[in-house]
Amino acid sequence: MRSAACEIAVFPGDGTGPEVVREGLKVLAALAEGGPAPWRATEYPGGAQYFLARGREWEPEAEAAARSADAILLGAVGWPGAILPNGDIAGRALVLGLREGLDLYANVRPCRLYPGVTHRISGGYRTVWEPKNVDLVIVRENTEDLYTPARGRLRRGGTTEVAIDTRVLTLKGTERVVRFAYELARVRPRGAPEDGVRRVTCIDKSNVLEGCRFFRETFDRIGAEYPEIERDYAYVDAFTQWLIRSPEHYNVAVAPNMMGDIVTDLAAVLQGGMGFASGGNIGAEHAMFEPVHGSSPKHAGKNEINPVATFLAIEQMLRWLGDRRADPGLGRQADRLDRAVAATLAAGTARGYDQGGSATTSEIGDRVAAAVRAEPR
Ligand code: IPM
Ligand code: MN
Repeated sequence: MRSAACEIAVFPGDGTGPEVVREGLKVLAALAEGGPAPWRATEYPGGAQYFLARGREWEPEAEAAARSADAILLGAVGWPGAILPNGDIAGRALVLGLREGLDLYANVRPCRLYPGVTHRISGGYRTVWEPKNVDLVIVRENTEDLYTPARGRLRRGGTTEVAIDTRVLTLKGTERVVRFAYELARVRPRGAPEDGVRRVTCIDKSNVLEGCRFFRETFDRIGAEYPEIERDYAYVDAFTQWLIRSPEHYNVAVAPNMMGDIVTDLAAVLQGGMGFASGGNIGAEHAMFEPVHGSSPKHAGKNEINPVATFLAIEQMLRWLGDRRADPGLGRQADRLDRAVAATLAAGTARGYDQGGSATTSEIGDRVAAAVRAEPR
């Protein structure tokens, strides 16, 4: 018996978001050819540009669709000058709002380097890291820490005298994200490239911060339940060097929200740039997947942005849906998409501006869709 098609709520959002989502839907359609589609994708408007036009970030129906969908695919939100009355960026509802509202507590950022991808370092396009040495996942806590909505300003006589962001780490929030990281290390196909060891690295600043000491203690306590997984530690400042110097040492790493936000963008350099960086925002009941490059206004409307991060976000989504629904067919489609992306990148025929080439967003989408068709179902 076939299970019902998955409902995917799609939010193209702002700037380059709709351009990469268009290619993502093209690739999803190619995956579904030749059989009954195992998913149904429905697009909803919303975001910062929508706010500028309508005075609200999205419609109640769109929010309801996000809540009831099996998974959410987000393009990007944010647009210059689009600010909510309270000073927040417009489009916040679709990212931070859904992370909080749907309790998407783990932000999962795979960092893998595909053969054929170069690194843009100091102006040039070159091979720096070996693909076999870059295969890690950073799990970032996604609902608390400095992102806790406990912030404000003290204004006296029209002058802001104090601005405060409160850093909150809870037992629940820490335990569940740390456990997520150990579980991921347990089920990933491989350990660290360096030595094959299943390893979770705790990224923190526990030599100074109380919240980080708590994070590390919790990491150790939960880790005792996973004796087969090596526990590893890095102060966040040192981690920034070690990650770039020896990416092969890392398998899974876990970090509090703000530090995780920073180190995941750094990690994107290892995989060829933000054009290859996807993220899953995962909760117990809901999940949202996105390319993490953002709306990139300076590239918007030019059909030049790299859509591969969106394909990798879709791959993450299909894998998560397959696990959740115990449907190996979805996992096979994720594998197929991965092979298609890898083959396209290895062939070097779809290099966009970010790789020193001239392929457009839609050409890269066409090539990957063609590669999907060439891969056995
Ligand atoms: C990310 C982004 C977001 C964050 C922004 C868009 C609010 O940088 O997903 O990493 O800070 O988490
Ligand atoms: Mn970020």
